[in-house]
Amino acid sequence: MSKLIDGVLVSQQIKETIRSEVSGLINKGIRPCLATILVGDNQASVTYVKNKQTAANNVGILTRDFKLPETIKQDELLSTINELNKDENVHGILVQLPLPHHIETSITNMVNYEKDVDGLTSYNLGFLFEGTPKLIPCTPLGILELLDFYNIDVKGMDVAIINRSNLVGKPLGILLMYRDATVTFFHSKSKNLEDKLRNFDCIITAVGNRQKFTLTSKMIKEGAVIFDVGISRTNGKIQGDVDFRSVSEKASYITPVPGGVGPMTVTMLLKNTVLAASLKNKIRNN
Ligand code: GUN
Repeated sequence: MSKLIDGVLVSQQIKETIRSEVSGLINKGIRPCLATILVGDNQASVTYVKNKQTAANNVGILTRDFKLPETIKQDELLSTINELNKDENVHGILVQLPLPHHIETSITNMVNYEKDVDGLTSYNLGFLFEGTPKLIPCTPLGILELLDFYNIDVKGMDVAIINRSNLVGKPLGILLMYRDATVTFFHSKSKNLEDKLRNFDCIITAVGNRQKFTLTSKMIKEGAVIFDVGISRTNGKIQGDVDFRSVSEKASYITPVPGGVGPMTVTMLLKNTVLAASLKNKIRNN
């Protein structure tokens, strides 16, 4: 049987540290503040944003909530972002993805890089690429924290990442490469995934569509480390990309869904907001 990677437990511990950092900042007259922007009313996004705000408030971070209509024009969204960029009391800005089709996802690049708590701007991705990351995207950062907590050293490991987004796959691959893993990216056009995955020591899957892809025990190597970033809803039930029952018999470590990577993503957003507030006020310099 594999060992469970418990994202709820690790999150709770990290949130304790964040809570005391927030108190420290408040004592210095700085109240960390996160602004969230949600365009439209995609139910999953509404829930995610609500969870992020509640988690922020629970550690003492203020939140500002911007809910904009689905039909908003790109330049109207841009003016909201620009106002928040200028607002000295706002330390972090999150534009929830996905955005409606008429708005370019690259609008996230208009967030001031110092407030880019999603780590999605060219500036932050550029520093990550170059090897001196500043604000790191939350899901990859959460996975690094889980690896550290469970003392999983990826040095020399063959790691498969099934995702190639700017939010997850690409930054995660670079970060793991800097930890001396050998990283391979898989995506919707990759061939013979089922056969190839069996060669990997660690598989990180973030597909989010169980009809398209489900990781089963016959696709993995005995003792592989499995991170499940996928979220699918079937008849109201939340599931990951992994057939947990069979895969947990064969893996050495595995994250559950829910309760694995998801809570860590939220916690890393809080961590980044506190980091952004600390850097801005020269409490920290990296
Ligand atoms: N949509 C799903 N995950 C995320 C995330 O981490 N950040 C943003 N901005 N949107 C998301």
